[in-house]
Amino acid sequence: MNRFYITTPIYYVNAEPHIGHAYTTIVADVINRFQKMMGSKTFFLTGTDEHGDKIAQAARAEGIPPKAYADRISGLFQNIWPKLGIDYDKFIRTTDPEHIQAVQYVLQKVFDAGEIYFSTYKGLYCVGCERFYMERELVDGKCPDHDTAPVEREESNYFFRMSKYQDWLIDHLEKNPECIRPERYRNEVLSFLKEPLEDLCISRPAERLDWGIPLPFDSKYVTYVWFDALINYISAIGYPEGELYGQFWPVAQHVIAKDILKPHGIYWPAMLKAAGVPMYRNLNVHGYWKTGEAKMSKSHGTVVRPLDLAPVYGLDAFRYFLMREMVFGLDASFSKEALVARINADLANDLGNLFSRTLAMTDRYFEGKTPPLALPPDEAMDGELLGKVDNAIRQFREQIPALGFHRALSAIWELIAAANRYIDYVAPWSLAKNPDSLPRLQTVMRTLLEVNRIVAVLIYPFMPETSSKMLERLGVEKRGTELRLDQDASWGALVEGTPVFKGESLFPRVETEGKKQEKPAQGANKAAVAQRVEQTGSPLIDIDLFRQVDLRIGQIEQAEKVPKSEKLVKLLVDIGEKRQIVAGIAKTHSPADLVGKQVVIVANLKPAKLMGIESHGMVLAVRDGNDLKLIVPEAETAPGGRIS
Ligand code: MSP
Repeated sequence: MNRFYITTPIYYVNAEPHIGHAYTTIVADVINRFQKMMGSKTFFLTGTDEHGDKIAQAARAEGIPPKAYADRISGLFQNIWPKLGIDYDKFIRTTDPEHIQAVQYVLQKVFDAGEIYFSTYKGLYCVGCERFYMERELVDGKCPDHDTAPVEREESNYFFRMSKYQDWLIDHLEKNPECIRPERYRNEVLSFLKEPLEDLCISRPAERLDWGIPLPFDSKYVTYVWFDALINYISAIGYPEGELYGQFWPVAQHVIAKDILKPHGIYWPAMLKAAGVPMYRNLNVHGYWKTGEAKMSKSHGTVVRPLDLAPVYGLDAFRYFLMREMVFGLDASFSKEALVARINADLANDLGNLFSRTLAMTDRYFEGKTPPLALPPDEAMDGELLGKVDNAIRQFREQIPALGFHRALSAIWELIAAANRYIDYVAPWSLAKNPDSLPRLQTVMRTLLEVNRIVAVLIYPFMPETSSKMLERLGVEKRGTELRLDQDASWGALVEGTPVFKGESLFPRVETEGKKQEKPAQGANKAAVAQRVEQTGSPLIDIDLFRQVDLRIGQIEQAEKVPKSEKLVKLLVDIGEKRQIVAGIAKTHSPADLVGKQVVIVANLKPAKLMGIESHGMVLAVRDGNDLKLIVPEAETAPGGRIS
């Protein structure tokens, strides 16, 4: 059986989790879920990095002991991951006794092998990074990460002979071009390695900093935090003798951002080599989430907290956004507007609409039961759709292991778009009118149900909750982590006669404050607009403003007059979901005439109360003298269809 070990960085406990941490951890979760679907035996590790200057300082600032402080922040990380749908196997803390033991074991082993020596060092030290800097690494004399001037410091310390491993590492990276990916980061490491590598200072005098793991061969010193932290990847699985270590090392996949490329791309391989532990399999490096131009970070005050977003916009919508928006390896910028735009376009409109239309039509035409596949798929009409299914499955299989998450998702969304076009083109509501077309209607709806099922399977690693919800409503046994790509993404798994459940819409649209609405013009433009309003009665508006209006086809299912009102009628309208709408059309239209009619609805009006009855939308009509005529589609159309 294929084994797969995936890790995130262990996060420092000096800051609360933000979306940078969430992204890395969600990436690891997506990969882990994908590998399970491929039938691999997996192990997923995350945790917290709790020793060192930075943490000791943060604890001091709160006036509590470092362990108590670390307990608190580590707890925040442990609590947040399940809320983001992250299903890890182990959470390691560098204060765990097993970890401390493993670090001391490695140190002793490397020391005994003569790879650690004692010496005096004088140099420029950045407290934020907890490391000495070379002059040439500084930018304008300052630490490039913290933008602060390093302090001069002289110390006697223990050093690891890292320089000795330079040639071996260059050779390894050349022979294994995929080892550090994407390629730009491999090149970055190789370019570090063009300069002579220095030995690594791996201790701190305990009199200055006692919040660390004591060196086993000199208790006057504690271990440098990076030498301590990196070992978590093996201590967590029971190095040197644990069973998990035997199963999951060296098939390790580390996921990190580019800020910690050097420790992972250079120190860690050298440490492994010196300790006689085989090299990890892959280092997967992504870019930064930024707000505006700056890296999101506590020190910049630009932190976006995942729990401010996920519960508001939906956990799966949040995961989808992060995975769809960032090209792995490059930077991406975060904004709420971009998040909302993706939710409304990709989730509410494309996926949500496909699912609700499919289920609503199954309900209407087949009493909510899966119809038989009565005909072989009609090449002309179903062929394109089936091609998109194959393509989505292929891209999913190839792109996720190659870190092309956005590509996998866009292939799935091409399939969703093709299925929505297929509905518009085949027009099942027309087929439904002609009893001779029944076999074709059955085949079309069965095809659509299958497409929805396959979409539900393919989105599982990204949106596990939505995937289960969809499968459940399609009448497919809920299997969650038991899903397997080979069995579950193959065509035709649905069973004739299985009931489906319409339910609520998967992703309600997020209403944005239409702030521009009241102010169509400013300054010099005002005069031109005033002139136009005078001539035509309406100002010119921006297309984006028009796009904010959600116009849809609605099918009136029930209608009744509002008591004591001449004008008002209360309607129940299917617009892909059921809406109660109060309309002022009673003088011209009787309730009996209205039932069954298709109309155009403004679906995103703020709810209003008319004669004490709530109205969630507006029916469009045109006044013609004394008459009022409803705006209707040219031919019968699926309820919920967006008007563009
Ligand atoms: N404790 C070390 C890692 C030790 S691993 C043996 C550390 N911790 S950290 O809390 O600073 O986390 C850094 C990691 O958090 C990044 O590598 C990345 O995974 C994630 N991110 C933090 N900020 C980020 C962004 N703004 N954008 C993307 N990811 C970011 O370094």
